[in-house]
Amino acid sequence: MIVVTAAGGSTGTAVVRELRSRGLPVRAVVAGRGPRPELTALGAEVVTAELTSPMQWPDVLAGARAMYLIWPNFDPDEADGARALFAEARRAGLPRLVYHSVLRPQARAMPHHAAKDRAEQALDASGLAWRVLQPCAYADNLDAQLADVARTGVLRSPWGLTRAQSLVDLRDVAAAAAVLLTEDGLDGGTFEAVGPQPLTAPRLAELIGDHLGREVTAQDVVPSGAVPTSYAGRCRRTMFDWYRAHGFTGSPRVLTALLGRRPLSFAEHLAGLPGPGEGA
Ligand SMILES: NC(=O)c1ccc[n+]([C@@H]2O[C@H](COP(=O)([O-])OP(=O)(O)OC[C@H]3O[C@@H](n4cnc5c(N)ncnc54)[C@H](OP(=O)(O)O)[C@@H]3O)[C@@H](O)[C@H]2O)c1
Repeated sequence: MIVVTAAGGSTGTAVVRELRSRGLPVRAVVAGRGPRPELTALGAEVVTAELTSPMQWPDVLAGARAMYLIWPNFDPDEADGARALFAEARRAGLPRLVYHSVLRPQARAMPHHAAKDRAEQALDASGLAWRVLQPCAYADNLDAQLADVARTGVLRSPWGLTRAQSLVDLRDVAAAAAVLLTEDGLDGGTFEAVGPQPLTAPRLAELIGDHLGREVTAQDVVPSGAVPTSYAGRCRRTMFDWYRAHGFTGSPRVLTALLGRRPLSFAEHLAGLPGPGEGA
């Protein structure tokens, strides 16, 4: 049994799908009650548990050979909550924990990166057998914008027009997660999951234009006003400020080694999207 947290989110569902496609039993942990047709259709056992509640973990982890810990996006409890959960997992005798981090967690100007950096430190001190996956930003992050882009011919870029991102396809992230959850000889390893090419917004616009069969231009959307006070707002703003100043790129070599093939390009990501009327 492999336990996956935040399983109803985009990352969690992709990891559950990948594990189930390999025929592995999965316990999908979700926060909110109510039916989860997508997860049950994949054949996962769905359980409801609060990540920050200590008492439920022995039950949630019963019979598990590994856990994939995804913390909900932009959640202020990540550093402390993850540390407490590592202690619970250790007490429960969990044989392997894989933590879903982020590329460059040490870029602490972004609070959610700082939280993941602290969580990685706590994981190292936890006594658990662990592995860490550090994904770059997902190519999938742009999917929600594509219908608008098709209509307007404009790709909105809050990270400016000159710095690049090495976007990674979420399917490749999930496949790397499956490797870390199941293969031996990887304990104590920190693995970057980075797409094959650094791409600026104008280059992304060009590739989207090729995919849509229309001209697309990138538009610089400069964030206005003060940095928001909410945690999620601060994370989002500091993230785009960081990308605008420094880009968010890395090497695809580690992901290539984990997958045994080169990661999917952005054009391949676009080609894999469902067409109009095909559903997700
Ligand atoms: N997007 C990227 O490019 C990227 C890149 C690298 C790393 N990451 C990291 O990947 C992680 C997941 O991101 P995502 O975009 O997949 O998240 P997401 O789609 O926003 O999903 C998060 C899930 O967590 C669950 N959740 C929310 N609050 C919760 C709480 N208090 N307790 C327990 N569960 C709660 C939600 O509800 P249910 O469980 O009820 O469905 C939701 O399904 C984040 O830590 C993010 O930093 C993202």
